[in-house]
Amino acid sequence: MTDAPSEMPTFPMARAAQCPFDPAPELSRRMEEAPVSRVRLWDGTTPWMVTRYEDVRAVLADPRVSVDVAQPGFPHTNAVSKARDAQMKTLMQMDAPEHITQRRLMTADFMIKKMEALRPRIQHLVDGLIDEMLAGPNPVDLVEAIALPVPSLAICELLGVPYTGRAFFQRVAGALVMDQHDPAQAMAASEELSDYLDDLVDKKNAEPGDDVLSRLAVEQYRTGAMTRREISTMGQLLLVAGHDTTANMIALGTAALLANPEQLNAVRDGGPALVANAVEELLRYLSITHTEARRVAREDLEVGGRLIRKGDGIVVVKSTANRDPSVFADPDVLEVHREARHHVAFGYGAHQCLGQALARVELQVVYGTLYRRIPTLALAVPLEQLTFKHHAVFYGVRELPVTW
Ligand code: HEM
Repeated sequence: MTDAPSEMPTFPMARAAQCPFDPAPELSRRMEEAPVSRVRLWDGTTPWMVTRYEDVRAVLADPRVSVDVAQPGFPHTNAVSKARDAQMKTLMQMDAPEHITQRRLMTADFMIKKMEALRPRIQHLVDGLIDEMLAGPNPVDLVEAIALPVPSLAICELLGVPYTGRAFFQRVAGALVMDQHDPAQAMAASEELSDYLDDLVDKKNAEPGDDVLSRLAVEQYRTGAMTRREISTMGQLLLVAGHDTTANMIALGTAALLANPEQLNAVRDGGPALVANAVEELLRYLSITHTEARRVAREDLEVGGRLIRKGDGIVVVKSTANRDPSVFADPDVLEVHREARHHVAFGYGAHQCLGQALARVELQVVYGTLYRRIPTLALAVPLEQLTFKHHAVFYGVRELPVTW
């Protein structure tokens, strides 16, 4: 068992340079040798780390675990998340029954049917961005050209953030999830975004449109059910959660496919069902949420044969769970035909990703269009020269220079 403090590496650990799509080697070793064991965090605390698929799902579905960041044992996986947790309470930091009430306010807006209705709009957006890319310089950075604008424009449209606010929004949302571990800078960005959204809630209240913030302004703020700040906090969660996640999946997923040309060919030549399958496989294979799900035990519980005491912190590792060989055969192989939809890349249980239907539509449209429209797409630099975001909240590539 790897519980002695001297043997404990600090979480999160960097992925290996030679296989940048795989989980950190130390995490994979833990899954094999000590699947439920202690890990050290940046602040010296040593919560439990849970790495196997069944244990991960069991913890995430267990009502005896909490997301209450105010509990002394709650694991703060970096300084920025600790500062944000102290300052702002979103859905992600609420337990039932408060969580159920707040989440219900949003579920209708993110239903599959609603997101499917957005598909033509997202297709139009992606087609336009590819037109611009083809008309511009070659090579180009795919992160700037496609990966960032698609989710940013989609979530801004859904929420009702006006076009003029989008450049500002991209800048502050980026500052919130960057990997420089600077809480002061992240807090300043968060405050700027809150002020902007407070103002927007007032504008939506005065002149409602057909968007999520207008609906919340009219139904919740105008009636006194929610304060302006509560609505803008919800808006901030959606903007941040819906932006960098999907952006990293677009760029990193493309890098992974370019590194596996047979898989890329299958996606390019396959129909919509295969593209949808490839999205699930890439979500499984890449598991981009790096700070992982964080919980604290409300009662004593047994996980994978180990006793976790009331008050202990738990870090739930989805990147290893998604590579668990007892669930996914040859887990380290990217195989776009595999049945992978039961992955935990969107989490599991009560806090499972609210925006997953939107993310799926965006990824399906991008993967289903980009390689078909640009069949000669290739990396403009060797894979080894890409810079990977080892210490960011979401894993990804900083730039993806491509040519065609
Ligand atoms: C590929 C893209 C995405 C990935 C990999 C992803 C991943 C996740 C994960 C793992 C969680 C659970 C966290 C936990 O259990 O503590 C989560 C929660 C959440 N996600 Fe996503 N997400 C993505 C896209 C989106 C989008 C597009 C939106 C919204 C527009 C969104 C909104 C949310 C929200 C609001 C929560 C909190 C749900 C709750 O606590 O009840 N996500 N996401």
